[in-house]
Amino acid sequence: MAVNKVKGTYDVLPSESYLWQALENQIREVLGQYNFKEIRTPIMEYSEVFHRHTELSDMVTKETYDFDDRGDRKLTLRPEGTAGVIRSYVENKLYTSQELEKVYYIGPNFRYERPQKGRYRQFYQFGVEAIGTVDSALDAEMIILAYDFMKRLGLKGVRVKINSLGDEESRQNYRKALEDHFQPHVHELCSDCQQRITKNPLRILDCKVDQKHKAVKEAPTPQDYLNEVSRAYFQKVLQHLNAAKISYEIAHKLVRGLDYYSHTVFEIEADIEGFGAQNALGGGGRYQKLVSELGGPDLGGIGFACGMERLLLALEAENVAFAKESELDAYVIVFSEDLKVVATKILYELRVSGVKADMNYTQKSFKAQLKQALKMNSKYLIILGDDEYQKGVVGIKNTKTEKQEEVVISKIKKYMTEKLEKK
Ligand code: HAM
Repeated sequence: MAVNKVKGTYDVLPSESYLWQALENQIREVLGQYNFKEIRTPIMEYSEVFHRHTELSDMVTKETYDFDDRGDRKLTLRPEGTAGVIRSYVENKLYTSQELEKVYYIGPNFRYERPQKGRYRQFYQFGVEAIGTVDSALDAEMIILAYDFMKRLGLKGVRVKINSLGDEESRQNYRKALEDHFQPHVHELCSDCQQRITKNPLRILDCKVDQKHKAVKEAPTPQDYLNEVSRAYFQKVLQHLNAAKISYEIAHKLVRGLDYYSHTVFEIEADIEGFGAQNALGGGGRYQKLVSELGGPDLGGIGFACGMERLLLALEAENVAFAKESELDAYVIVFSEDLKVVATKILYELRVSGVKADMNYTQKSFKAQLKQALKMNSKYLIILGDDEYQKGVVGIKNTKTEKQEEVVISKIKKYMTEKLEKK
């Protein structure tokens, strides 16, 4: 019985994996320049890391993969990176060694969403978190980093949208305003939103069912409820962005789909013709309560994450190509079973010297082997035949110039490393 992949997942095939490797290399390079260090946390966490009483987002209430392990512990496959990173930050007391911890992560996340192009049930994110310090310059750094990263990837069509939800007081006032706004429409909204009105009216704004309702479209925006302190903080963030000449839009309606945000929130969208509905390449914002909610001190953080599949789709849509993996340096063709032992020795010596080499393992005619060898796209072919072996030599053919030379077997390594300019 053939078994297929799980709905909403995909395979990265050997012919495509260089794209992922190139993207990961770029992530590590840019994040290193911004002084972020990698953190690796588990894919599964105890469910309460995500299912905190304050979290009422769809992602947490409806989309998580929750299960009991064989010891009846309640576990959840991470739907996002931030909560697990903060759990680790608190558990390892990272706040005792650094005032500001700047970390990044790359890895899979799991959300039970309706799959479509750019939206999967297992998807990869890279994300960053700067935890421990509240400073508008840091908020700006996040946005600059996200923007810089995408530009350096070669993406042209990116749009930065930012907004502020304000501090706790501003958020409470905004919440109250939303509650008053939605109350007259309570019976026109979906059953979830009827509950959300009193529990967390912000989540009505990103409800997939009620998106088109007039009351949602006409809802008040957070900007109207920012207090002095929050307004000043946001202005400072914008000043930094202006100084760095980053182009952005203030998106008054942007609230983000997760509950932990306050102050700055932002999203990076693909602005590419025909890209499709899943155009959020990344998003993030400041969180002031997550650390204390997960048992740590009263410290804030800010971060963002980008969907790696969407970045690759955006690159494809804009015809930006990553360099393909380098081709093989040498491919050994062997003409008899006995000579394979000799080939194994040659290959080992070449590889140890840094030569990218392989051999054919199937016994076929010379013609068939040559055909296969050419398909391998190798710079050199090392031809090991019985007659040559008797003479203690091999034929080495440069596939570009088609020039073939006889080389003494004990000199292959020297010959190849000189030709390839390897040490
Ligand atoms: P998020 O907006 O839920 O934020 O996800 C960030 C990005 O992950 C999205 O912009 C999108 O590119 C990608 N993404 C999300 N869901 C899917 C999916 N089902 N399939 C493919 N790609 C997807 C967060 O996850 C926050 N933890 C970001 C953050 C970090 N906030 C503060 N620090």
